[in-house]
Amino acid sequence: MALKKDDLEGKRINCDDYSLVDFQGFESDDIFEVADYFWECLSDAVRKKYMVYGQPIMSRPGSEFEVFDRNANAVRRFLNFCSYNYLGYSLHPEVIKAVQSTISEFGTGAVSAPLLSGYYDQLRMLEEEIAKIKGKESAIVFSTGYATNLGVLSGLLRPGDVAVLDIVSHASIYDGVRLSGADIKIFAHNNPRQLEKVLKGLNTKRVIVCVEGVYSMDGDLANLPEIIPVCKKYGAKILVDEAHASLIFGEKGGGVAEHFGLEEEVDISIGTFSKSFGAIGGYAAGKEKLMAYLRMVARSYVFSCAMAPHTAAGILKVLEIFGRDKSELDKLWDNTRYMHTKLKEVGLDIANTKSQVVPVMAGADLRLREISKRIQQKGLYTGVVAYPAVSRNKTRLRLSVSSMHTKAQIDDCVRILKEVFDSMAGWKPGQSTAVP
Ligand SMILES: Cc1ncc(COP(=O)(O)O)c(C=O)c1O
Repeated sequence: MALKKDDLEGKRINCDDYSLVDFQGFESDDIFEVADYFWECLSDAVRKKYMVYGQPIMSRPGSEFEVFDRNANAVRRFLNFCSYNYLGYSLHPEVIKAVQSTISEFGTGAVSAPLLSGYYDQLRMLEEEIAKIKGKESAIVFSTGYATNLGVLSGLLRPGDVAVLDIVSHASIYDGVRLSGADIKIFAHNNPRQLEKVLKGLNTKRVIVCVEGVYSMDGDLANLPEIIPVCKKYGAKILVDEAHASLIFGEKGGGVAEHFGLEEEVDISIGTFSKSFGAIGGYAAGKEKLMAYLRMVARSYVFSCAMAPHTAAGILKVLEIFGRDKSELDKLWDNTRYMHTKLKEVGLDIANTKSQVVPVMAGADLRLREISKRIQQKGLYTGVVAYPAVSRNKTRLRLSVSSMHTKAQIDDCVRILKEVFDSMAGWKPGQSTAVP
């Protein structure tokens, strides 16, 4: 039932009783009024030390970093299993130098949209390099990965079309389709039989299937060898978002489609520069004519400032380093395998991850809040993933393994997780027991 003013008026709001979704349905004639009540809920969460989001980071995103810990009211050092710096490239001296020298020459921003005067030569070169590693004719660079899915899907689809999405697809995929007005149909996670059932029941040929190479909250891989034939059988287009897979999977670093030898079968390959590339931005790659069309109709491209030339220069340097030296990738895989083994040894549930994205399943959202507070008290920083990123009863900590981690840091991470999960035995919502 939707939350109303009468339910909350004059009462002290207990954050344990509500989730964000309750407030999103708040009934009021005043569209801002919800914020007053949500503020009370948030304040209760801060009092209970559950508000672990959005704390200022005070040092570089290495394997450890310093964070202003709101609960301790102090800057503290943490083990960093949260940043997407999978290959450490955001801190690579050659990358930093390339960025610095481009800033010196070109200034700090593109200061225009790409179709006007924001399309710097670094961007053109970056698009060419991305098209090569994706095995596609052409590519377009957007300002973020989110903007890429938003622009591509809203630009291509229209009411009456159908987008068939893996249920756990990223918010940017859902939002892009919603913006287009096309219908959304979902299929069970990574399940080609369910996908076939959905495709069989459609009465339009204007259909696109969207999946992720490495699933961003689960770390498992899209079952492309079975999913792609189903799409082909029904004539559906296929989009693969390789956000977490680029530079990690595939000989050229193209992602999971390349890993399975299926890059040519994918119609649109999407990705982001905010993960392994250590920067910011996104890209779409595909047939030249399709990309040329998207440049004109993807509104998040047309009506948004272009990527800064120094960002593109830094990413170009990353690609150059990656092309000649795979030692960071080798270290990442070594660390990833070690992390999987150690977490399984202590009996933690890491779902079906096959990558450097490692979920540690935490159950319902109230339990996650207590777990996240406890791990931070012990000096471990991870992704704390609750609704709306995942459903309310499938919350998790998300570990981002990096090539920069040492085995000793991974051991410490696993030890802290084990201690905290053990300490939760018998815990009930509302009980804020002392951290052991
Ligand atoms: C699968 C997927 N797509 C898109 C994005 C958005 O990328 P960005 O952070 O570059 O906007 C993310 C980010 O987490 C993602 O995981």
